[in-house]
Amino acid sequence: MTKLSLGAQIAIDHEHIWHPYSPMHGKSPVFHVESAEGVYLHLSNGQKLIDGMSSWWCAIHGYNHPRLNQAMEQQLQQVAHVMFGGLTHEPAIRLVEKLVTLTPQALQSVFISDSGSVAVEVALKLAIQYWNAKGEPGKQRFATLRNGYHGDTLGAMSVCDPVTGMHSLFNDVLTEQFYVEQPKSRYGETCDDSHLRALENLLQQNHGQIAALILEPIVQGAGGMYFYSADYLLRARELCDHYRVLMIADEIATGFGRTGKLFACEHAAISPDIMCVGKALTGGYLSLAATLTTTEISSTIDHGNPGVFMHGPTYMANPLACAVANASIELLLESGWQTRIQQLENKLAELLSPCEALAQVAEVRCLGAIGVIEMNSPVDMASIVPRFVDAGIWVRPFGKLVYLMPPYVISDTELEQLCETLVGVIRHQVD
Ligand SMILES: Cc1ncc(COP(=O)(O)O)c(C=O)c1O
Repeated sequence: MTKLSLGAQIAIDHEHIWHPYSPMHGKSPVFHVESAEGVYLHLSNGQKLIDGMSSWWCAIHGYNHPRLNQAMEQQLQQVAHVMFGGLTHEPAIRLVEKLVTLTPQALQSVFISDSGSVAVEVALKLAIQYWNAKGEPGKQRFATLRNGYHGDTLGAMSVCDPVTGMHSLFNDVLTEQFYVEQPKSRYGETCDDSHLRALENLLQQNHGQIAALILEPIVQGAGGMYFYSADYLLRARELCDHYRVLMIADEIATGFGRTGKLFACEHAAISPDIMCVGKALTGGYLSLAATLTTTEISSTIDHGNPGVFMHGPTYMANPLACAVANASIELLLESGWQTRIQQLENKLAELLSPCEALAQVAEVRCLGAIGVIEMNSPVDMASIVPRFVDAGIWVRPFGKLVYLMPPYVISDTELEQLCETLVGVIRHQVD
């Protein structure tokens, strides 16, 4: 293989590659990663960055982890991929056994897919097929919280916030759903009746059309990094039961310890009817997700028409991805994660608190291994990200939000360096 110079690679990237939510031409800068180890990203120009993002919240054990590498290498010797139609394999079976054990007890049927957005599509389709099989085909639409985010495919987009999800651009293809105001009560607060009124009115008036309420439990991630009341979640669950609307908990960002509980639904001790997991499922090694549901829902679908669930991705339950997911979950469970996440929450709160005094900062909030600095006005990503990189950290803000979701294995010293550097850059950031 001929070696491409760094300059040649970047030129090809600029000419031909789309990056997420970026223009094709007239590029924002991209930084070329050569390798990664622990919490460090090693750039090809020799710079070393502490990763504050866990590669969009996935790499909870850090990079190049010997146990995860070993799991993949061993699986590679067995079989890298095999179709899941009519065939099965141990990595998938072991993974599903773990998922049904770790998630709420009622969730016993699992559909494995290849990304978070697809897991959400699967959840929406399960809900529609369920009601159809129950003889209520009118229940085809969804209720969803404003400022929510559930992925970038068309079905998932329809349940994202209509403004930040740019629904007007896709008017003719996105189904119009029922949008409920963001929960007013914050995490740690009880929920006033008035805060539930909008949801209650909506369900009361439209439950005949609504298959499910979909929400991100406790933490709304990419739609605003907002932490809301466990009481709201509990009472939303009760309202769903009352109005015969399923609840879909999208735990794709919150799952596997990030909020201080293994799954965020545990903050309210609720069991959703359908749950989506992804992101940290493989410790950031491969794209994999899963949608879990109850036996009542899966068997109702089996007894309906056409008697099967209508979905089947080519790379469903890829053995390499399942093998590394098994290793990642085992590693997490034996890591003392609860204590560590609590320590990370305390440390993040302490280390980011100097930002509270800055005029350009509206609020600092932390929950679990999530630290958020909300600015008064949108951050200019094109200028701030290179400043973070020059200072030796990898942080990628969006809108008004500068946030950290570090790998759980970050040491205290590394976290101090990450936060102090971040605070230093924010301090010099003027509105
Ligand atoms: C809560 C939530 N749901 C769904 C998704 C979509 O996942 P993916 O990017 O793997 O398709 C995301 C991604 O950020 C997410 O945060």
